[in-house]
Amino acid sequence: MSSHIILAIESSCDETSASVIHDEVVLSNVISSQTIHEQYGGVIPELASRAHLQAISAIVDKAMQESGKEYQDLTSIAVTTQPGLAGALLVGSSFAKGLGLKLGIPVIPVHHIEGHIYSGMLEHPECGFPFIALIVSGGHTSIFLVREFGEEIAIGNTKDDAAGEAFDKIGKMLGLGYPAGPRIDALAKEGNPKAFTFPRALMHEDNYDFSFSGLKTSVRYFLQKEFPNGIQDESTLKDICASVQEAIVEVLIHKLFRASKEHRIKNIIVAGGVSANSRLRSALQEASEKRPINVFLPKLSYCMDNAAMIGFLAALKLRYLGEYAFHSLQFTVNPRSMRTERI
Ligand code: KG4
Ligand code: ZN
Repeated sequence: MSSHIILAIESSCDETSASVIHDEVVLSNVISSQTIHEQYGGVIPELASRAHLQAISAIVDKAMQESGKEYQDLTSIAVTTQPGLAGALLVGSSFAKGLGLKLGIPVIPVHHIEGHIYSGMLEHPECGFPFIALIVSGGHTSIFLVREFGEEIAIGNTKDDAAGEAFDKIGKMLGLGYPAGPRIDALAKEGNPKAFTFPRALMHEDNYDFSFSGLKTSVRYFLQKEFPNGIQDESTLKDICASVQEAIVEVLIHKLFRASKEHRIKNIIVAGGVSANSRLRSALQEASEKRPINVFLPKLSYCMDNAAMIGFLAALKLRYLGEYAFHSLQFTVNPRSMRTERI
């Protein structure tokens, strides 16, 4: 196998990230999270594009420096081209094309969700095919059946909000700022998950789909009825966080294990921003101890949006597809390409 040194770039949402991968081994992974959106309570696409443009050169330089490699050592560039915010994707893709032209090396377009799926293999080469992947992030909540490399079949999807979106929107109602997922996680650690009961939508339906908008509405009515003047004490807030988190985690786990059981697949990958959630991680651990299954979770810096997973997937493409992984520079970005059957 010839040696590949790949520079990867990720800019699909509000993280600007660059990474250098040497033959499937991560040499550097620099992630810069945009903070400008906090004051607006959600990501503002136009501001995200500008912030990527401002940060990208320095982030790429830093990733190169930390890797100990020179630009001349690079053999290809991998970049996220879909899905994501159009302007944000264009910044990373245009940068990758320009650098590829300058260095005379090919560019490998990468699907962000496919990147999350294979991030579970990044430090777990023992996770072979077939596997079931639960991808839970701010924009997606899907279960994929992956029998072989490149054959990701979406067998379940959210019908409305993504799990991360539910964390963020409910957190906003609770006054926790944006993104609220990590804040709810932290507060829930000292709360009682049984203090309040919130709905678990579609839990017992005969499919692998999810729905979180009913949970959001139910929390809104609950807060209006029980706490019309706001939540006064910290312990109630912690109990609400723990109860909301439990409702989300329970459905995720229920559907995931059901998919694993019905398809008789023992390897499970859980990835995407929400896979950083400590309750989800511990519940997966507990559930896997009771069953003959293996759960593979990326480390935290590979759960959030990061370029290492993009470069790693590009390296896998080179292993499995050879030169077909490369693309002419005529590829474009594709902001919405996710809710399809096959990605
Ligand atoms: O994968 P990601 O970084 O970006 C997208 O592709 O969407 O995921 C971001 C999402 C946000 O909704 C954030 O609130 C959520 O992941 N998140 C968490 C935690 N850390 C991040 N949700 C719950 N618990 C966490 N610890
Ligand atoms: Zn993501």
